[in-house]
Order: sequence, then C-alpha cells, then structure tokens
Amino acid sequence: MTEDVEWQDHYGLPPFGNMMQPGPNAAENFVRIGNEISAGIHAALTRHCGPDLSQKRILEFGCGIGRLVMPLRYRHGYPSDACDVSGWCIGYLKRAVSDVRFRQTPNDPPLHYRPRVFHALYSVSVFTHLPYERQRPWLAELHRILRPGGIAVVTTSGYRALRYRREQRRQPYWTGVSDEDLRTRGIIYSDHGVDIANHDGVEDAYGYTAHSPDYIRDTWSDIFEVVEQIPAAAGLQDINVLRRAVQGGKAGGAA
Ligand SMILES: C[S@@+](CC[C@H](N)C(=O)[O-])C[C@H]1O[C@@H](n2cnc3c(N)ncnc32)[C@H](O)[C@@H]1O
Repeated sequence: MTEDVEWQDHYGLPPFGNMMQPGPNAAENFVRIGNEISAGIHAALTRHCGPDLSQKRILEFGCGIGRLVMPLRYRHGYPSDACDVSGWCIGYLKRAVSDVRFRQTPNDPPLHYRPRVFHALYSVSVFTHLPYERQRPWLAELHRILRPGGIAVVTTSGYRALRYRREQRRQPYWTGVSDEDLRTRGIIYSDHGVDIANHDGVEDAYGYTAHSPDYIRDTWSDIFEVVEQIPAAAGLQDINVLRRAVQGGKAGGAA
C-alpha cells in the first residue's frame, strides 16, 4: 500500500449492483460504509486473533461485490479467501482483486473447503437475510471449516437495525415489529417486499432477519462459544464474535 493511494483508487470501484447501489452518492456511500464496517470487523478480529492477520487463512463468507474485501486486503493483507453465491460478483472480483482466492458457492451447505482450514472468518449482512431453516446449517458449516480455537465474526440485525427499518425506512412488515416482539421471539424473518430477482445467485427465500443478542447467546452457543457481542459495531448491525472450541462441544466433534 502506498501512502497517497487508497483502496478505491488501487482496485477501482465496481459496477452498479449488489452493495454498490446507484444514486447521487453511490461511490461515496460504498467507500464510506466499506471503511466503517471493515474497521469494526478488523478491530474484532485483531482483538481475538492478534495484530497480524496477513499470514493467516481468513475467509469472507458472502463477500458481495467486495466492499469489505477491498479495504481489508489493501490495508491489512487479508482475507486470503472469499465466497458468495453470486457468480456476477465473483467474476468481477477475480479480475479486480487478483491475489484473493474467490469461489462461487451454493445456497446450501456444504462449501467446497476442507474441514478446519481457516484461522478465522467473517460474514457481514448475510445471516441478516437467511430464513430460519438456513441459519443453523450455515452456522454448523462455518464451524466445520474453522480450525479448533478459530474465530468467526458474524453480524446480525439487532435492536438498532430493527429501529432503522421500522422508524426511518418504514419498511413493509417491519413497521409492525416492536423491540418487545424481538425480545420475546428472539429471531424474526420476513421476505415481505423483497424481490429475489434483484439478488444475483440467490435461489429462494432472501428476506430480512432480526436477531436479539440474547437469542444468539442462548442458541448459537450450541455450536460456538459466544465470546463477545457488540451492538451496532458494523454500521447498524451487531457484531458477534464466535469461537470454535479447542476440544469437544456439540458441533466440536462433528467435523
Ligand atoms: C447484503 S450483501 C453483503 C455483502 C458483503 N458482505 C458486504 O458487506 O458488502 C449479502 C451477500 O450475501 C450473499 N449470500 C446470500 N446467501 C449466501 C450464501 N448462502 N452463501 C454465500 N453468500 C450468500 C449475497 O449474494 C450477497 O452478496
């Protein structure tokens, strides 16, 4: 990295689609949000994995059009690998960021990666779209590909994101969901108003999912140790830091 060049100059900006949405401030928003979220992910990863991640095998699960791959790779030398269901995104990123291994992956597990290969992984704004029945199979799959002791940083939409959907965006369905509803139910999914034709690679059921932090701590701990939860630390979304147990645990013996 050179001092006067930033990641968006180095790689260039992607075409419109995925997280690069057309609009008056499209490029500025892409860069600003990429910077903000990647800083939250980097802080969480370095807190739990040490300062130098450039020699480690690290995956972004659901990388989209590279809004986080680009700043993290350029500034910190990771991720080593990234995947997404979108062939359009992966095709673009293979050309734009040639030193990361990209793979197009299926809508349901398994991934093609061998068990226990990654030191760490991160996944932003993916579990926030998966319907109920896809949540646990994907969590178990991420557990399978992490080394014992490996860290997964996964974002979810908690109370801050719920308030945004309900009060600022006034999105269909979410205007009727209160904080108390989320507290009581723990997880809420709805695909009201979402057209999957706009989401390349997604086969079916891609809506919005909200999780309460208590639900994650109580239910995801069947699979991972939930070691840290930070509200609204990735833009509007919560950061959850999960660790694969070094030994044992329900899913610990599965892979
Ligand atoms: C909201 S975008 C976020 C992209 C990227 N993480 C970012 O923050 O810019 C969600 C991404 O998840 C991808 N996705 C959805 N289901 C997936 C799955 N089962 N496996 C991998 N990627 C998936 C979508 O194609 C999309 O690119």
